[in-house]
Amino acid sequence: MSFPVAFYSPVASITQDEEKARKAKMAIIMERYKDKVLALPRKEIDTNLHLCKYEGFWYHHGFWLHSNANFSVEAIMALQDEFQALPTDVFLSSQVKSGTTWLKSLGFAILNRAKFKIDKDSWATHPLITTSPHDCVPFLESESFLNNPSYANGLMSTHIPYTSLPQSIISSDCRIVYIHRNPKDMLISLWHFMNTLREDGSSPTKLDDTFELFRKGLTPNGPFWDHAIGYYKASLERPNKVLFLTYEKLKEDTYNEVKRLASFIGSSFTKEEEDDGSVQEIVELCSFKKLSEAHKGNKDGSHSSNGIYFRKGIVGDSVNYLTTEMIKTLDEIAKEKFDGLNISF
Ligand code: A3P
Repeated sequence: MSFPVAFYSPVASITQDEEKARKAKMAIIMERYKDKVLALPRKEIDTNLHLCKYEGFWYHHGFWLHSNANFSVEAIMALQDEFQALPTDVFLSSQVKSGTTWLKSLGFAILNRAKFKIDKDSWATHPLITTSPHDCVPFLESESFLNNPSYANGLMSTHIPYTSLPQSIISSDCRIVYIHRNPKDMLISLWHFMNTLREDGSSPTKLDDTFELFRKGLTPNGPFWDHAIGYYKASLERPNKVLFLTYEKLKEDTYNEVKRLASFIGSSFTKEEEDDGSVQEIVELCSFKKLSEAHKGNKDGSHSSNGIYFRKGIVGDSVNYLTTEMIKTLDEIAKEKFDGLNISF
């Protein structure tokens, strides 16, 4: 069994000096792309928020979510200019609220299973439990703000659409795993998540309003459908480079999907591992039940609380919230957008 090197890159324990350096880097990046961003089409969402359109997708720009500029359009521009992928890198890609946390957990547990044991007796000290999946697998967009980016650690995640990825990711031999989710479930997950993040005491966003924005593609990294289509087409054109997973299939047949994922990222399970229960242990360690229990105390609504990434973790919850009319609208959009492609919903 061979393991790609050093996939562990915790960012939880950032020191005050590092935080200062990160903010200084943020300021430089914001300044560098100021004019380019000002020229982009903009859409006011509410008094505190507007999105801008870059290469066909909508993004926050500048400081958002508690002065955290990490997911802004400027980060993408900086990465496009600077980022150099290595052939051994693995990128876990997704739209928000589509299974990012789950995919990060699985990717991390698989690639680091020699270093961090995945048998039940070792779970209590596993980084997925002692820190969080998001600490274990950094977002590429955040990394651009570190003074000394930890790119070389090899396992990263991103919400950047395929067509806007830094050129070196597209052209190098690195691999990309995408997770897609039923747009209706994603919308409900997003709506809950955004309301959980409200710390300013303002009243919760109405579902009608979030639905309207979503329908028009006005969510960060949206339109949701176009994001999925970019990765889906790439997975057909370059099946050895891009693997297209779905949240629903991962739920339905976790064991075999985990094996498929491991094999794709160059870390197949051996026959002995299958026999000794290693695959099943990874499935359970990364399950919604295990991870949500481990992080449930940490759900105070702040952006850094790990618990907010776990809500229900089920398929089809959207039927409990969406009206028949909303479902019809979203189904029509999916039918039109995914026409001729083997992506359902
Ligand atoms: P729900 O809000 O529908 O429960 P992301 O990680 O991209 O932010 O997506 C969050 C969604 O994935 C949430 O969906 C969350 O509950 C679910 N989720 C998080 N961890 C999971 C896991 N280990 N297994 C299954 N679903 C998980």
